[in-house]
Amino acid sequence: LDDLLAEGVAGRRVLVRADLNVPFAKDQPGLITDDGRIRAVLPTIKALRDAGAAVIVMSHLGRPKGAPDPKYTLAPVATRLGELLDGPIVFAEDTVGPSAQQSVDALAGGQVLLLENLRFNAGETSKDDAERGAFADQLAAFAEAYVDDAFGAVHRKHASVFDVPARLPHFAGGLVLRELEVLDRLTTDPDRPYVVVLGGAKVSDKLAVIEALLPKVDRLLVGGGMCFTFLKAQGHGIGKSLLEDEMVDTCRDLLARGGDKIVLPTDVVAATAFAADADHEVVGVDAIPADRLGLDIGPTSVAAFAGALADAHTVFWNGPMGVFELAPFAAGTRGVAEAIMKVDGLTVVGGGDSAAAVRALGLDDDAFGHISTGGGASLEYLEGKSLPGIAALES
Ligand code: 3PG
Repeated sequence: LDDLLAEGVAGRRVLVRADLNVPFAKDQPGLITDDGRIRAVLPTIKALRDAGAAVIVMSHLGRPKGAPDPKYTLAPVATRLGELLDGPIVFAEDTVGPSAQQSVDALAGGQVLLLENLRFNAGETSKDDAERGAFADQLAAFAEAYVDDAFGAVHRKHASVFDVPARLPHFAGGLVLRELEVLDRLTTDPDRPYVVVLGGAKVSDKLAVIEALLPKVDRLLVGGGMCFTFLKAQGHGIGKSLLEDEMVDTCRDLLARGGDKIVLPTDVVAATAFAADADHEVVGVDAIPADRLGLDIGPTSVAAFAGALADAHTVFWNGPMGVFELAPFAAGTRGVAEAIMKVDGLTVVGGGDSAAAVRALGLDDDAFGHISTGGGASLEYLEGKSLPGIAALES
C-alpha cells in the first residue's frame, strides 16, 4: 500500500478487496454483533481516501448461492462503514451491473463506494477459470489499481482475490501485511514454550493444522466440541456429546504420536439439552451420563489449561472451549482466554469464533498480542499451504 501511495493516487480509482464478512444478531436482521473486521480495514480505506483516490471497496458476506439474496446484502455494512469513516459512503445495489457502473462513473477522488456482495455473482466463487475470469474482467475494468486487504479471504481462490490482481497493478494492504508478519513469528522459531489451544466443533476442520503443528509445539490443549471425539478415542463414554465417529481412529493415532504434548479436559459441563436453561452439572470425563451432552470444559480442566499456559512465551488460540454464547457454558472459554491474557509473550487469537468470543465476553482486546481477522486463512497459513490471494499478490 505504501508503494501505491508513494506513486500518488489522487483522482485514481482503486479497488480494495476487504473482508467485511461480519456476524449479525440471529433475532435482529441487520444488527452487526461484531464490527472488528470493518474496523480492521479502515486504515487502508482512509489512507487511500485521504490521498484523493476514488476508493471502490468490495467484499463477500456469508455464503449466498451466486445470485442476489436480500439476507446477505452488504447494505447494513455500508451504513456501519460510513459511520466509522465519519462521512457518507456510496452503496451500489449491485456488484458489476448498472447501479455499480453508474456509481463508479460518478465517484470522485476522496469518495468511497461499497459494491454489493461479490457472491451475488456466480463468477466470484466459480471453479471454472473462464467464468471467474469473466467476472474478474468486469471488476478490474472499474479501477486502475487493486489493493488486497481481505486477510480473512486470502485462502479462497475467488475472482476478487485471485483473478483481479492478475489484471491490475496489485498491492498488499496494511492488514494483510500485519497478519502475515505475526503468523510468520509463529512459524519461524517461536519463543518457547509454544502452546497452541484448539477448540471449536469439529476435529475434521482442524486435522490439517493439528498435523502441521504437532511436531512444532510444546503443548496442544484441546477443548470445545472437538474434544469429545478425542475423549471417545481415549475410551471414555461421551453420552450425547458431539462426535465425529469417522475421526476416532485418527484421534487415537494423534494421541499416540502426540504423547504428553496433547492435553485434554478431565472434566466437562454436561447438560440435558443444547439450551441456556437446560439442567447441567460438572462431571469427570469418565462419568459423562449417557443422556447428557458436554457443552463446556469444566473448572478442573480450566485450571489445568491455565497451568499449561502459565510459562508459555508463544500462544496461538483458535476455537472456543464451549458454547460461550450461552451463559452457563461460557466459563471454559472465559477462563482459558483470561489465562492467555496473562501470558508473558506473543499471544495470537486466530479469527472467527475465538475473536468473536473475546469481544462477546467483554474481554480486553488489547490484552492479546494479535487478534487475527482470518479464521480459515490463519489456519491454512499455519498449515504451510500456499494461499491463492497471497500468491496472486506475489506474482
Ligand atoms: C471467514 O469468515 O473466514 C472469511 O470471511 C471467509 O469466508 P468463507 O469461509 O465463507 O469463504
